[in-house]
Amino acid sequence: MIYGTAWKEEKTAQFVALAIENGFKAIDTACQPKHYNEKLVGDGIAKAGISREDIFIQTKFTPIGGQDVNNMPYNANDDLAKQVNDSLKVSLSNLQTNYIDSLLIHSPISPIKDMLKVWQIFESFVDNGIIKQIGISNCYDIKLFEYIYSTSKIKPKVLQNRFYASSGYDKELRAFCNKNDISYQSFWSLTANPHILNSDIVHNLSDKYNKTKAQIFYRFLTQINITPLNGTTSEKHMKEDLAIFEFELDGEEIDKIDRLF
Ligand SMILES: NC(=O)c1ccc[n+]([C@@H]2O[C@H](COP(=O)([O-])OP(=O)(O)OC[C@H]3O[C@@H](n4cnc5c(N)ncnc54)[C@H](OP(=O)(O)O)[C@@H]3O)[C@@H](O)[C@H]2O)c1
Repeated sequence: MIYGTAWKEEKTAQFVALAIENGFKAIDTACQPKHYNEKLVGDGIAKAGISREDIFIQTKFTPIGGQDVNNMPYNANDDLAKQVNDSLKVSLSNLQTNYIDSLLIHSPISPIKDMLKVWQIFESFVDNGIIKQIGISNCYDIKLFEYIYSTSKIKPKVLQNRFYASSGYDKELRAFCNKNDISYQSFWSLTANPHILNSDIVHNLSDKYNKTKAQIFYRFLTQINITPLNGTTSEKHMKEDLAIFEFELDGEEIDKIDRLF
């Protein structure tokens, strides 16, 4: 499970430190001041006092369309290559590190030639060791994802998407990820799925295992090879959600929840 840092504003450092102290070993952020305070993510990691090699840090390059033009981490008038390079410099400085474990393109860029250009710059970061792996977020088009996969020298290792009914829960994309050793990360996992959390099946499993409905659902996700992002601000929820690895749903239970999708 990855701790998500969006929308925490001036409390970002406090929650990141609390999440790490409670056992989160992976942190997701973005160089996108509109929704994330990346500098305070860095401060939170430093405050927790964890050594760099024991924490997985993921951030994102956010194209202009996803930025607030009045609060940009790079100059919107520069060419794309400089934007990407400057964004990474800001992330490294904010996160107080000389390497990043995982760097994502926050959302697909069009035209496709610009997307491929950014991907090639990402590949050069991997080549020089500053970035350990690269991936994409908000890509719901299997053809586009397959195209990037097949044309790239360094393959995507992460797909981070909204996990919801409108995308058919990314069934095809998830199968592609499983086949090609790509980690599928979900967000909106709880908020987009109250119908599943409130289903009789999840309710009964919650009684059987003496776990909350959120714990049952997060456990289900991890057992079908999904890595959920979790941005809880509650220490109680942090503890509960990290405790999901203490129990396991059986195959029939997994199938029953799976059929709700
Ligand atoms: N790539 C993208 O475009 C994108 C978009 C959105 C989000 N993200 C990433 O995903 C992260 C997670 O965002 P999210 O939208 O999925 O939602 P979230 O921030 O994880 O919010 C979950 C909501 O469910 C509540 N909740 C109730 N029981 C819970 C439990 N046991 N555990 C956790 N939460 C519980 C939380 O309230 P409490 O705080 O009271 O627990 C919170 O209001 C973000 O911080 C960000 O890193 C990425």
